[in-house]
Amino acid sequence: MRAAELFRSRFGGEPDGVWLAPGRANLMGEHTDYNEGYVLPFALSQGVAAAAARRAGRRLTLCSRQEPAAAVEVDLDGLAPGQVTGWAAYPAGVAWALEAAGHRVPGACIAIDSDVPVGAGLSSSAALECATALALTELGELAVPRADLVTLARRAENEFVGVPSGIMDQSASLLCQAGHALLLDCRSLEAAQVPFEPAAAGASLLLINTRAKHDLVDGEYGARRAECEEAARRLGIPSLRYLTDLGDTDRLTDPVLRRRARHVVADNQRVLEVVALLRAPAAPPGQPPPGQHRADTYRDIGRLLAQAHASLRDDFEVSWPEADAAVEAALAAGAAGARMIGGGFGGSVLALVPAAAGGLVRDAVTEAFARHAWTEPEFLDAVPADSARRLSLQLVWPRPRGGDQCRCATRRRS
Ligand code: GLA
Repeated sequence: MRAAELFRSRFGGEPDGVWLAPGRANLMGEHTDYNEGYVLPFALSQGVAAAAARRAGRRLTLCSRQEPAAAVEVDLDGLAPGQVTGWAAYPAGVAWALEAAGHRVPGACIAIDSDVPVGAGLSSSAALECATALALTELGELAVPRADLVTLARRAENEFVGVPSGIMDQSASLLCQAGHALLLDCRSLEAAQVPFEPAAAGASLLLINTRAKHDLVDGEYGARRAECEEAARRLGIPSLRYLTDLGDTDRLTDPVLRRRARHVVADNQRVLEVVALLRAPAAPPGQPPPGQHRADTYRDIGRLLAQAHASLRDDFEVSWPEADAAVEAALAAGAAGARMIGGGFGGSVLALVPAAAGGLVRDAVTEAFARHAWTEPEFLDAVPADSARRLSLQLVWPRPRGGDQCRCATRRRS
């Protein structure tokens, strides 16, 4: 990514730093986070980079390689929801949430670059929030624990941007570790790292961006949330997390609410099953050593992925035709399992594939899309990566001179 280069060309100077926040894929637990359930996401190597420098005064200047229109100016004094719209609402919302929590956000110039496809259900928005959150807190020397940054970034999305998302995406971007998935209990917010390295067992993770766009601001996501809340209300429990027995969902007489609840209970159970598989002690003598999962672990996880897709399609009704076709084609071509990920109604499918079958799966999915005359899908390799971090900045020498002076040149250097 070339955030520092964009910074130089737009602001005419060197950034103080570059911060990278990853997108995420979710191994298991969909539409469970806002029901106080379990999720098991992992960070991607694809992410959003923010090259930023502190400047005097109380303004943010934001530009993005993906949004080549003029830079957006944000006044930090009196900033309120509704004042900034479009892509810049995400970074502006983070500044707003930090200030609302009592932190003094510094003026800054920020240049954004991203290699997370937008609208692909891979949390490009959470990555944008988290990269901005790290940049602003480090530039302002604000000591905010990561767990608090998760909550602030989510608040930015819910209250400033107006998207009623749960806590999964920001948690994944800020808390994941390479080679692990993150088990998050969305009721207690307790988080644990679970070893997850399919490559070590000859498996790979393939993301299939179906290119059908999703937009969480649209009503369907909010409608599912409302149905889950109504189901919990009718059952007299604080949230669907409190249901642990699938049979209890039969107490819901409304068939739609019963199906929604069934998905949430079953997906919570599937998260715990996947975690148990990943944590199972390794094999007896002669088998792979501890910490290394066996191929059959991934076969079992694959089976759970396929079940989860059926549940999201039939009970929760958030899948879409391209996802169903991609899952079907991937399974037929030898994938151990596949399912839609994220909020639904568009976005990506995650397939768990024996390394040898990777090419076959891609070909089969591409052919299925061609048969329907759909836009060709995009394939990305998913490798469980690290959470948001500062990147070391490679300074260009000689530094730009004269007319290239940074408009942020009045910034304070620490
Ligand atoms: C979106 C939301 C998340 C979560 C998923 C569905 O990605 O941002 O909070 O609810 O949908 O699991």
